[in-house]
Amino acid sequence: MADQYAVIGNPIAHSKSPLIHTEFARRTRQRLTYGRILGNPDDFPADVRRFFAAGGCGMNVTLPFKEQAWAIVDRRSPTAERVGAVNTLTRLPDGRLGGDNTDGIGLVRDLCANHGFDCGGKRILLLGAGGASRGILPTLLEAGPDTLVIANRTATKALDLAAAPGPDRVDGCGLEGLQGRCFDLIVNATSAGLGGGVPTIPSGCLAPGGWIYDLLYGDTPTPFLRWGREQGAARVLDGLGMLVEQAAESFFLWRGVRPATAPVIARLRGNGSHTGAS
Ligand code: ATR
Repeated sequence: MADQYAVIGNPIAHSKSPLIHTEFARRTRQRLTYGRILGNPDDFPADVRRFFAAGGCGMNVTLPFKEQAWAIVDRRSPTAERVGAVNTLTRLPDGRLGGDNTDGIGLVRDLCANHGFDCGGKRILLLGAGGASRGILPTLLEAGPDTLVIANRTATKALDLAAAPGPDRVDGCGLEGLQGRCFDLIVNATSAGLGGGVPTIPSGCLAPGGWIYDLLYGDTPTPFLRWGREQGAARVLDGLGMLVEQAAESFFLWRGVRPATAPVIARLRGNGSHTGAS
């Protein structure tokens, strides 16, 4: 029987992970199946146990289960340990469950390797202080920016998150605290776009030649990407590339083979896509 993988979340019908991983497998000639599982919010651990007891090799975890996944694994990667959330579960050779988080590497690979943004010495603004921001923060910091500011509608949450990796390197503030500040890259990790909104940040925050990255993606440009264009951004990027890159890293962790991502991103763009997570 082919090795079995799946993505678990709730909702899950929208997930593009089965398509992405099936494409990776086809292109790398790996024999596997990849399904989707609607997780039970009242008993997520039972769903995971059942999948692995039936011989499953690995799972991707999406909203709202990433924190629960972190809690139930036997061994966490250093990244997963730091961000407090797991998006990749792996059955280890000794039968225990390993947890990793590939969201941050997914963002940085898309931004830097696919699109050529060099984070080194740059001023980066991260909007939002929820799970999405927490997931990408350590990897963004490792990319070596000069400044990293977390700004959030609820300022206290930004301050808490900024304090976590080391207070010297990251600032936190409310959105109004951005007045008079300027950034080379603004990453939107808020969920404002799901309701058609944009975090209200002062105009002038984007430096001339600055870039915009929205973790959301859609058939049409997200509200934040439209805002970025109005601000004169040099580049506006949505989160579809990150989605494929985080999947590629999971695939690599499971199979030891790194799939090419560009053709899969192109295929998804061709198919149209929807705002959402993995
Ligand atoms: P996720 O796990 O996707 O990050 P979350 O933990 O609910 O989801 O966090 C959502 C983030 O989007 C929060 O930072 C939230 O700001 P608050 O902490 O003030 O709630 C932010 N957010 C959601 N809607 C927003 C809006 N309309 N404007 C600005 N920020 C918004």
